Amino acid sequence: MATPLTIADLKKLARRRVPKMFFDYADSGAWTESTYAANESDFSQIKLRQRVLVDMSNRTLETTMIGQKVSMPVALAPTGLTGMQHADGEMLAARAAEEFGVPFTLSTMSICSIEDVASVTAHPFWFQLYVMRDKDFVLDLICRAKAAKCSALVLTADLQILGQRHKDLRNGLSAPPKFTAKHVWQMATRPLWCLDMLQTKRRYFGNIVGHAKNVANVASVPTFAHEQFDPRLSWADVAWIKEQWGGPLIIKGILDPEDARAAADTGADAIIVSNHGGRQLDGAPSSISMLPKIVEAVGDRIEVHLDGGIRSGQDVLKAVALGAKGTYIGRPFLYGLGAMGKEGVTLALDIIRKEMDITMALCGKRDINDIDSSIISGWQLDG
Ligand SMILES: Cc1cc2nc3c(=O)[nH]c(=O)nc-3n(C[C@H](O)[C@H](O)[C@H](O)COP(=O)(O)O)c2cc1C
Repeated sequence: MATPLTIADLKKLARRRVPKMFFDYADSGAWTESTYAANESDFSQIKLRQRVLVDMSNRTLETTMIGQKVSMPVALAPTGLTGMQHADGEMLAARAAEEFGVPFTLSTMSICSIEDVASVTAHPFWFQLYVMRDKDFVLDLICRAKAAKCSALVLTADLQILGQRHKDLRNGLSAPPKFTAKHVWQMATRPLWCLDMLQTKRRYFGNIVGHAKNVANVASVPTFAHEQFDPRLSWADVAWIKEQWGGPLIIKGILDPEDARAAADTGADAIIVSNHGGRQLDGAPSSISMLPKIVEAVGDRIEVHLDGGIRSGQDVLKAVALGAKGTYIGRPFLYGLGAMGKEGVTLALDIIRKEMDITMALCGKRDINDIDSSIISGWQLDG
């Protein structure tokens, strides 16, 4: 295949390089996947205003997210099992993000541990926290993120219980996992992936094994995680986490103006308008369709970020125009990683950067910080 030019090209390559069960894990949404699909397709409802004969030289995409300088308003979203898209996946992606000047967010459910990622990066990364029933374990995670000098805690609020993804169940990615000859075959047909995987010792949930109680061996991790997501999590817990953490806090998974107001009341630094990439409540509206209402509700009180469905630099620009101070990509960087390792993550970021830069220029703007709804020609979104 020629050099990938789009995120869709990277996705095609990843499908060829990553064993089916792990590729499907990335490319799946809950139930009918209608929210997953809407996240992507709703961006195309937004039309941009073409402007001409204005000075388009000396452009910049540099801005800040929660006061931290970023080379463009795009962070890598926290994604579980990233080290299964490519050996040492989280370490490679974190290094690519660092070199690109954008934040990397490490998931609680990562393969490489907080300490692994800290050992290969010089700049602080962000840590995403799932609140488990075992509060000692939660505290331990917070302490480890502090020790690693993480510069933000991303608290995920939309996974108190796990949404159902049919592809994962059919592939045996369940708790406990069901390994069969089919999996061996899926891996055997991806020899380069296997070779890389054989050379790393990081094949398990690095933040959990050896840290959580009752996780004696690797096979017990999925069951532990499944049982440990805390269905009683409430706004009162957010105050406790904020106190324990004591640094910049971002609340992820807000899709409703009322919840956005509650999040702003906690004194958090930012919220992420998100439906978990369509992996939780199928039938919920797309993230982009809810962004304007949420910005209207709390935009003057808290920084508003967005993820879900971003597949191009144009999508980022549209989100910024509708009031997002920053965005996150999940699958686009996973496809890059699966396709080409660290180089693929860099390529995914570069594809998005170029598209954003050219689009901004053709909309008659030179500075990402000047982007507002004036670059939108019209849209029909009904969140
Ligand atoms: C494979 C995969 C794993 C994910 N794991 C996590 C996770 O561990 N924690 C979390 O907060 N969000 C997780 N998410 C959600 C992402 O952080 C993000 O909200 C979503 O990917 C954004 O949508 P996009 O993939 O269309 O960019 C995951 C998403 C994917 C695709």
